[in-house]
Amino acid sequence: MASYKGRIKEEDISTIRERSNIVDVVSDYVMLKKKGKLFWGLCPFHQEKSPSFKVDPATQLFHCFGCGEGGNVFTFIMKVERLDFPEAVGALAERIGYRINYEAIKPKEASKKGRILEANHLAMLFYQHILQKTREGERGRTYLKKRGLNDDIVNSYGLGLAPQSWGSLDNYLIKKGFSRAELLEAGLVVKGPKGYYDRFRGRLIFPITDLRGHVIAFGGRVLGTGEPKYLNSPETVLYHKSSTLYGLHLAKSQIVRTGAVLVVEGYTDVLALAQAGILNVVATLGTAFTAEHIELLKRFAERVILVFDADAAGMKAAESASSYLSEFRLPQTEALRNLEQTSTSGIDVKVIMLPQNLDPADFIAAQGAESFYKLVDLAEPFFDFYLTREINKYNISEVRQKEQAALACFKLIAMLDHPASQKEYLSKVAQRLELDEEALTVKYNAIYKKSSAIRSEARATVLDPQERAERSLLHLALKYPEIRNRIPAEMDESYFVSPAHAQIFTVLKSMGGGKFDASALDNLDKGLASKATELLLAEPEYEEEKLLKYFKDILITLKDFHYRRQISKLKAELQSLTSQENKMHYDALFEELIALEAKRRDLKEKVP
Ligand code: UTP
Ligand code: MN
Repeated sequence: MASYKGRIKEEDISTIRERSNIVDVVSDYVMLKKKGKLFWGLCPFHQEKSPSFKVDPATQLFHCFGCGEGGNVFTFIMKVERLDFPEAVGALAERIGYRINYEAIKPKEASKKGRILEANHLAMLFYQHILQKTREGERGRTYLKKRGLNDDIVNSYGLGLAPQSWGSLDNYLIKKGFSRAELLEAGLVVKGPKGYYDRFRGRLIFPITDLRGHVIAFGGRVLGTGEPKYLNSPETVLYHKSSTLYGLHLAKSQIVRTGAVLVVEGYTDVLALAQAGILNVVATLGTAFTAEHIELLKRFAERVILVFDADAAGMKAAESASSYLSEFRLPQTEALRNLEQTSTSGIDVKVIMLPQNLDPADFIAAQGAESFYKLVDLAEPFFDFYLTREINKYNISEVRQKEQAALACFKLIAMLDHPASQKEYLSKVAQRLELDEEALTVKYNAIYKKSSAIRSEARATVLDPQERAERSLLHLALKYPEIRNRIPAEMDESYFVSPAHAQIFTVLKSMGGGKFDASALDNLDKGLASKATELLLAEPEYEEEKLLKYFKDILITLKDFHYRRQISKLKAELQSLTSQENKMHYDALFEELIALEAKRRDLKEKVP
């Protein structure tokens, strides 16, 4: 559990760091590809189109050259799971099955999130016990059997049954030492006019977990029919529907393996597909698919296939039956633009719509996994899907309606940012409606053309030569301990113009010959850590066999700049003095100037 129970000893921290291979840990979140000695992937900390996130197995450090985040395995977990340091250490310990010996157990220190996680975990075990071991559980077991869900699936998704009573979970958890306030905050207990009562009663329970498999919420289905069909945990400090996907914890390894993820609408769809051997599947939680969801999936998948139940637009007659028709779970128009942007930026989003009245679970039951795969192969790029859907609302054999359809499509297209994709889709609409593309474009421009500011993505690549030399030297000094020993003693932080570089240099000099890696990073000032990982993992512009020559050249450059700075300082000082004023001082400065200029000349002569 993520709660923390006291100070963690240094030895524990080192052991956990040593046993948590950063490549494995990062791979839980990011799809990494090996390139040379490093691993590359899409950065989980910012939105990007091409990988600039690097992981170095040799030093156990990572750095993103897009957003500048960098650090070791602890820093990574802190950022990606939004944990503090002890929580991150705890999470990694748990991951490798390591028991931390906390120095002092102070229950007060346990974080609120940790308490809720613990309450949820116990609640899950409680519900599972009811389902599996009690007479009351018989109802649940029969129901699951009737729906064709086997024990393996039921167990791996941790299903349970909430007993048909007002306070048994409340009782149980209060006895376990939780306060009412905590249970309310966890959403497990509800306050009514007559007192407190269990939120879930007589329902089949689906635990909802985070990426690490910790229970953050529950969904509860009525056994049989009843309203509401599903009752869910409220949003809590741990649970945010729009950024959670049901089943992701169990699906992620298969998603990474296949590069693809299926996003379905229901809990039971996830279970049914998993049982049929389709494991790369997750579900939204009764909400639309959002840009946040896609951000989450981007870390694992290259392709996203949204699987919608039968089209609500074609089912208007049935609409009154339930407020949870697919229409409400399609990405809302605001999310469209984000989706389109992401889909043009390296992740492919496609859509399939199942035949009338079927959800994926029904479909698999009726037609089997093979037919389902065939359907997946037919998935349509998602924006095409929206256009098709829009067009299908009109009877385009009538001229007037055809025009209406075009206008409706314009509305969608206008939401996109890129003129290039607008052009592409206008051309598609023209084809679909059999209209003249040029005329259509003229019309579109007349209605929607805005002055579009062109955002330059030009990256600042030209570095100041002094800055470049500082970076190169630090890169080498970070990477090669033996190079560090060759740095001339006279060279100090005054050779560096950037204060951050100067500080890192000082730290490195005092380190002597030791390897700079994940453990060294823990001792570095927090602000300097990502600077150091950046310098270390920067693309080297030298050939390894010419390393020493490269190093010497950098030294010469740095010295040259250093002398030049000193020379101009001296000249300025000399100019401010008159030779009469303080003859001795003047002469001394002048001598110094001559000596520096000689040193500079020497440097030049050394250069072949
Ligand atoms: P469905 O009605 O399709 O349910 O709603 P389902 O998951 O397929 O369940 P079965 O197979 O009929 O038993 C899809 C999803 O919408 C949310 C749930 O997340 C559900 O899985 N939902 C639905 C609610 O939150 N509340 C509801 O009342 C209904
Ligand atoms: Mn369904």
